[in-house]
Amino acid sequence: MPGLEHLQCHVAGISGLIFTLTSAMGSPVTKVSTSESGYGFALAQNRLYRNVPYGPEQKAILDEQAFQQAAGIIRSWPGYKPTLLRDLSFLAQDTGVAQVLYKDESERFGLSSFKPLGGAYAVVRALISGLKQATGKENIEPQDILDGRYKERVSGMTVTAATDGNHGRSVAWGASLFGCRCVIFIHETVSPGRERAIARLGAEVRRNPGTYDDAVRKASAMARDMGWYPIPDTSDGVETEAPKNVMRGYALMAQEVIDSIPPHSLPTHIFLQAGVGGMAAAVAAQFWRRAGAKRIKVVLVEPEQAACWYHSLEAGKPVDVRGELDSVMAGLACGEVSMLAWPILAPVTSAMMTVEDAAAVDCMGLLAEGRLGDAPMVAGESAVAGLAGFLAAAADNGARKTLGIDADSRILLFGTEGASDPETYTALTGLRPEAIGKAGENPSER
Ligand SMILES: Cc1ncc(COP(=O)(O)O)c(C=O)c1O
Repeated sequence: MPGLEHLQCHVAGISGLIFTLTSAMGSPVTKVSTSESGYGFALAQNRLYRNVPYGPEQKAILDEQAFQQAAGIIRSWPGYKPTLLRDLSFLAQDTGVAQVLYKDESERFGLSSFKPLGGAYAVVRALISGLKQATGKENIEPQDILDGRYKERVSGMTVTAATDGNHGRSVAWGASLFGCRCVIFIHETVSPGRERAIARLGAEVRRNPGTYDDAVRKASAMARDMGWYPIPDTSDGVETEAPKNVMRGYALMAQEVIDSIPPHSLPTHIFLQAGVGGMAAAVAAQFWRRAGAKRIKVVLVEPEQAACWYHSLEAGKPVDVRGELDSVMAGLACGEVSMLAWPILAPVTSAMMTVEDAAAVDCMGLLAEGRLGDAPMVAGESAVAGLAGFLAAAADNGARKTLGIDADSRILLFGTEGASDPETYTALTGLRPEAIGKAGENPSER
């Protein structure tokens, strides 16, 4: 078979065979097959990558001023503190790189994911713009709403969003913080545990037939019909204000990393899991603005059955992925890219990967058990996709070369959730999240 190589590999502790193929399109596509686990991955270089400065197209979505405003407001919320940046030195040693840093979002605002940074921030901005319209006042600040100055009016306002779990929870949390009503749409396969977590925050939860993308359309139609405030975390190019605010909030997660590492040791590679791409775009934009496009390689990682970014970047334009899109990585089970993430991710992404559900589950166990020697930690299904991508690439000589991974590489991963659905976590890992090493007791914290 032309272009086929056989290499020994070690993916998350499992040995097997790797087959490296060159696609008909000419860009390298690597498939891994392990005899024991059957884990596979795909890797392709992004032909839309451009080594250009952060320009007007990107600034129109996420600029410094809007970021600073979002960061200032979020930092003032009760319970705000930067999340842990863990140094996984044993994992770095095992994979032959200089450093692996893991931004652990499992305890952000007590909600088990990074999401409140975006959803709750977009809620307060939507409420402010509604209040400005209703009162004719120009100078309404987020603190005014937190202080209850517009309590009566705000309690009559309704925010709505579609979710596969975490975004809806963050919007519901924002609604309870600021005192408005909240209706959240979930799709067929969102777990009962995630549904309950949203309802516990006081939101009304409605289950909609179809996929996440169908629920997004439903929420948007209901908002139009009912005069509610839509808070999508994605954009079809028409609704842009709320998803921009969502991304501005997410960017604070990247800024916290930048603030805690010296400028000379910025990462060389960031492996970012993508659903609609809002999180990846916000993080990539923050590093792009701070470090320039050239210095940091951005690798997008998705579940193989919901790889809308992989296929869109390969196609050179946004294309939808159809089918059930069902993945244990629930937060990443999206078939349509966000049109606001596209102008950022298309030029800044170096490569994209897909990983299998089984690899993600194995990575959850690897982190929970501290299998390589790093302190045990709780990482949810969608949190570990970046790690699964990195481990697969690090174990493959061809992929290492394609991505420029070597002994000097400094890898940054975003562990975007903890046990956001404890029942699912236990079902997948056989472990109870509360029994796993508590934050604050780990030697790997920075
Ligand atoms: C835990 C987690 N990680 C990553 C993502 C992906 O974010 P985005 O959809 O903005 O790409 C999500 C989205 O819901 C998520 O819940």
